[in-house]
Order: sequence, then C-alpha cells, then structure tokens
Amino acid sequence: MDHFQYRGGHLFAEDVPLTDIAEQVGTPVYVYSTATLERHVNVFRDAFEGLDALICYAVKANSNQAVLKTLARAGTGADVVSLGELRRALAAGIPADKIVFAGVGKTPEEMAAGLDAGILQFNVESAPELEMLNTVAGQRSRTAPVSLRVNPDVDAKTHAKISTGRSENKFGISWTQVSGLYDRIRDLPHLEAVGVDVHIGSQLTALDPLKAAFTKVVSLVRSLRQNGHVIRHIDLGGGLGIPYEPGSAPPPLPSDYGRMVRETLGGLDCRIILEPGRLIAGNAGILLTKLLYDKHGDERRFYIVDAAMNDLSRPAMYEAYHDIVPVNDPSGTERIPVDIVGPVCESGDTFTRARPMPVVRPGELLAIKSAGAYGAVMSGTYNSRPLVPEVLVNGTDFHVIRPRQTLDDLLALDRTPDWLAD
Ligand code: LLP
Repeated sequence: MDHFQYRGGHLFAEDVPLTDIAEQVGTPVYVYSTATLERHVNVFRDAFEGLDALICYAVKANSNQAVLKTLARAGTGADVVSLGELRRALAAGIPADKIVFAGVGKTPEEMAAGLDAGILQFNVESAPELEMLNTVAGQRSRTAPVSLRVNPDVDAKTHAKISTGRSENKFGISWTQVSGLYDRIRDLPHLEAVGVDVHIGSQLTALDPLKAAFTKVVSLVRSLRQNGHVIRHIDLGGGLGIPYEPGSAPPPLPSDYGRMVRETLGGLDCRIILEPGRLIAGNAGILLTKLLYDKHGDERRFYIVDAAMNDLSRPAMYEAYHDIVPVNDPSGTERIPVDIVGPVCESGDTFTRARPMPVVRPGELLAIKSAGAYGAVMSGTYNSRPLVPEVLVNGTDFHVIRPRQTLDDLLALDRTPDWLAD
C-alpha cells in the first residue's frame, strides 16, 4: 500500500494534491512519500520480528539525502557500493556500524574510507580484492571485517540484466573457491572473517530461488564453522520484488519472505543482514509528467509527455512495466490504446506501448508510478535535458529535496580548451 491515492477525483501524495506540486515545481518531477517510505521499513522490519536482523537499505535505489535521512530516522543501516554512497549514508546520519560495503570493484581509496569510518563489514567478491583489502587495512593498522559474497549459481528468474547469482555473472565468489578463500582470510593478518553474503538478483517474484540460495549458504556456514571460522553475520542481500502492474500476480509479501528466512536459517545463531532497496523506495515515489501532444499516427496513437528515458530509464533498459495514471481521475470509462513516449530522439524512449489509457488532454498530468527506486538515481542528461527535481512529501508539507538542474548548471560542467578560446 502506498500513499498516492485519489481524493475527490484528484491524485494526492499523502495530503498534497499532485497538481499543487506540478504548479509550484514544474514537470517532470519525482515525488516521494515519507509515510510510504516509513511504512515499507516497518512492514519489512515486522517480517523479521524476534530475529537479530539489521536492515541495510540499498542506497543505490534512491540516494537523495532527504530520503536517506528519513530512513536513518526509521532506524535503517545502509548497503553502499561506492565512495559517493558511503559519503551520502554517513552524511545522512546512518551510523558506520550499520553500513555494509558491497560491489565487485572497490578501489583502495574506497576501502580506506570504509575502514576509517569503521563500517560493519566489507562484502568481498574476489581473491584479488581480498588481498587488496588486507594491504589497505595493514597500511592503516586496522583489521577489516569481511564477509565473502558467494555466488550460489542459482537462477533468480528475473530480468537477465538484474540477475546476479549465476556462475556466468560477474558477482560473488564461485562455490568451488569459497572455503579456500575463508582459509586464506585466516592467514591474512589484517582481515577478520565475520560473515557470509549472498545476493542473487533484483525484482524477484518467487521465493524458491532465494530459498535455494539461502539453503546453500546455511550449509556453507555450518561447514565453515566446523573448520573453525567464526561466522557471526549472514547477509541475505536484497531483491524482493514489488508490485508494478495492477492485476498481475503480486510478488511474495515481506511476511512470506520473513517466514521463509526463519525456516531456512532456523537455529543458525547469526545476525541477519538484509539489503532491500526497491521494496523500501520503489512504490514510495512517482514521476509526475505532463502530456505535451496527443499525436495520431497512421497505425498508433502517441501520448508525447515531457518526461523521457533520460529521466526514468527502466522501461527503455529492461522493458519494465510502470503503471501510468492520470492525475485527474477520468470521469468516463473509455480506454484507448496509446504509446506513451518522451521527447528524446530514440525510438526506445517509450514508457509503454498500446496501453489502454483514458483520454487525457494536452496540458494534463500523468503519474508514472513505482518510480521511487532506480528512477532519479539512474537519470542522465541525454539530449541536454537537465536532471529533474525531486520533492519529498510529508503529510500536508512538501519540500524540493533536489532542485531542477538549470541549463546554466549543465553548460558549466564543460570546459573550453585554450585553442578554442575566442
Ligand atoms: N544488495 C546488492 C548487493 C545489490 O546488488 C542490490 C541491487 C541490492 C542489494 C538491492 O536490491 P533490491 O532490493 O533493490 O532489488 N536498476 C535495476 C535494479 C538493479 C539492482 C542492482 N542491485 C532496476 O531498475 O530494476
């Protein structure tokens, strides 16, 4: 459930009409709901009630400072994958001992920053990365807490571009190398093995692949412990899917997921780390856009809107479905099949094809739903389109949490070499 609901025929974000935001901030604009972010944290936390579970929100899903501060206040930690995300998480007040650092290509600089901050653990993904972390920790006279991210070779049954747990993927340490690498950690003076980590993909709509991966991890933990390794943490990654398409089979609920985790990990005395991203932020945000033109082609009808693939790339990148609704609830029930497209000069700049939509007139607003995760963070300035603003709603209040980039900002990023100076 989210807090984007119709009231009196108009779509609201909590207690704010979206038309007010469009009037004051312009379109396109991302709009997030505080109550929805908090609700998602609470629902997820409740699913693990009674377990020693730490929610490390995957910052990559939405890294705006105001969003992170909202989540920090709700008590979450963070899963970061870059120096930038680490800086953002710390700046938002997320305690270092609730931060895990993931990613296949951490640089020595990033490792040093994580060590200096005193983060909870590094999720290490290869033998050379392990050696590098030992070196960097040694230079700083520190001991790095390490979990190895294992690759369980499980098919997550999600889109190929967001599947990470097959042996053909770049992620994680292959099963055959894992136990040797834990032995290697024991030999390296500046590393301490604290846990095991797994993440098999994103937008997972079935629990079976997760259960298969977790079952493998549990047997690994048992055998590592038999070999004398102290394994205190088990990091289960993120990946639980969210409903995008009304009427389609919904993904498992967090409570189902929690039950499965309890059953699978039962009795293993471990702190559980969870890295949900999409589940927290996805349905807590929309992209508000305006219909520019209603174009009648020979074969198709196009709603040309002012948002584009550079603002929300998921449909172009993964053929992702996003529900799109008019901000003024249409009075009639008539639906016409339209392609909803942006102004960017690519045919891929299409949010949907032949979607039955109510009749909307140019100048009216549409809300592209489920855009709070992997939306603004994946935007760019292709076609010299400035980054769109972000707004956070809280009850009857709203605040611009990132202003619209101006064209001057955009041009100011470029530099002219001497030989082109006038
Ligand atoms: N942990 C790790 C190690 C990850 O790689 C990810 C996501 C997460 C946690 C959070 O996964 P979530 O709970 O959000 O599914 N841009 C794509 C999604 C990429 C996900 C990358 N890793 C999309 O728009 O669908």
